[in-house]
Amino acid sequence: MNLSSKIEKALNDQVNLEFSSAYAYLGMAAYFDQTPFTGFAKWMQLQSKEEIGHANRFFKYIVERGGKVALQAIPQPKCEYKSALAAFKVSLGHEQKVSAAICAIYELAISEKDYATLSFLKWFLDEQVEEEKSVGEIIAKLELVGENLNGLFQIDHQAGSRAAEEGKH
Ligand code: FEO
Repeated sequence: MNLSSKIEKALNDQVNLEFSSAYAYLGMAAYFDQTPFTGFAKWMQLQSKEEIGHANRFFKYIVERGGKVALQAIPQPKCEYKSALAAFKVSLGHEQKVSAAICAIYELAISEKDYATLSFLKWFLDEQVEEEKSVGEIIAKLELVGENLNGLFQIDHQAGSRAAEEGKH
């Protein structure tokens, strides 16, 4: 059961979107490296690595299904933000875009009756719920503390601990 050309194209576009996400998060890590927020910088680095993992899952799947991987150019990411909140808001927007893209491939797989791709995408649907949730929680906390430095450093510390914890796995 070979991939249809439409699905192959959509999966290749997703490889690109995941690598673009990795690069966008690396840009955010570069921004946080210019600030005292070392926890956020770590969090962004870890997130960037996770995105490379996502890209590689799609890469492997295309190959497994007898498709052809076609890598595309990655847009230049932003490395400057106004604040931690601004960076995390861009991150959430990005995750929502990724979720929408995965849903679009899911719909395409339904219309093409590609059940293997539907099964493959299930992991990503769950992962996107997690990703949007964790970014959304950080945004909610950042909005709550506003400019309060104590509060900001506390959230930074929590983000750094989470990154250190998850980086072990
Ligand atoms: Fe792989 Fe955060 O989407």
